Amino acid sequence: PVPIILDCDPGHDDAIAILLAAGDPAVDLLAITTVAGNQVVEKTTLNARRICTAAGITDVPIAAGCARPLVQPLYVADDVHGESGMDGPSFGEPTVDAVAEHAVDLMYRTLTGHPEPVTLVPTAPLTNVALLLTRHPDAAAHIREIVLMGGSTERGNRTPAAEFNMFVDPEAADIVFRSGLPVTMCGLNVSHQALVTPEVLARLDGLGTDLARICAELMTFFAATYRRLWGFAAPPLHDPVAVARVIDPEIVRCVDASVAVELRGEYTRGATVVDLHQYLDRPVNAKVAVGLDQERFWDRVIDAVDRLGAR
Ligand code: BDR
Ligand code: CA
Repeated sequence: PVPIILDCDPGHDDAIAILLAAGDPAVDLLAITTVAGNQVVEKTTLNARRICTAAGITDVPIAAGCARPLVQPLYVADDVHGESGMDGPSFGEPTVDAVAEHAVDLMYRTLTGHPEPVTLVPTAPLTNVALLLTRHPDAAAHIREIVLMGGSTERGNRTPAAEFNMFVDPEAADIVFRSGLPVTMCGLNVSHQALVTPEVLARLDGLGTDLARICAELMTFFAATYRRLWGFAAPPLHDPVAVARVIDPEIVRCVDASVAVELRGEYTRGATVVDLHQYLDRPVNAKVAVGLDQERFWDRVIDAVDRLGAR
């Protein structure tokens, strides 16, 4: 299995990304790190502990990371994910704890202690990852690649131009895309193909476990949000797409491109400028997701939830 660290801000779709990463045999989840994004870091960390408790994920360390972006104030997505950051199901007091270490320290220790290079899977603002690369330049040698959810080849979802994870910490995203490491960007243009249709919900329901019921409740809340805010008939499950790309690269088709993060645009700060047609004289610095094999994607997600729920 591919060793990974998941850096997230749960978050409805982050929660399912955790389940996919913990429940799929093709990846070895070494650590879960959290960051401020969908909600403040205290809440995203509590939510990671909640979903791990519900799924019986007791052997993966969880560490809380940065409480705010590198430069600008924090902007949270309580309109999308609710006051808790993961509204919908009711969770009891979690029995899975976070470790006392900072997320960046846990990442560094995990990377340098692992016998082979590790894949980073960020599904949140890139603050922790940028700080890791800045504070520990030698960490890069231990990173196989960074496969992230964020950005878009098209429009944004937080501003007309910027996707949420990029919008919250554009400077951090800029550091990551300029790092020289292999970066794969799974953006809105593909995550909007990962729609939780009524058929998907029925498959989840059909599993009949407590964990599947929690997932269905999360997705039902998320569906109501996407209907209300954006008029979607079914909500997109963004973050698991990045995990799926690591599990089986054929699920997410990518092309090579140069990606720049807009930092100064008057209306476009946080936009990912993806040069799919080589207009600009810039070197390729990323693989950019352009297509999703929906059937295989949902099979992996449902199987992971089933496997964890049966434990
Ligand atoms: C991204 O923003 C967050 O709200 C989601 O968890 C996802 O990571 C989608 O734009
Ligand atoms: Ca997220």
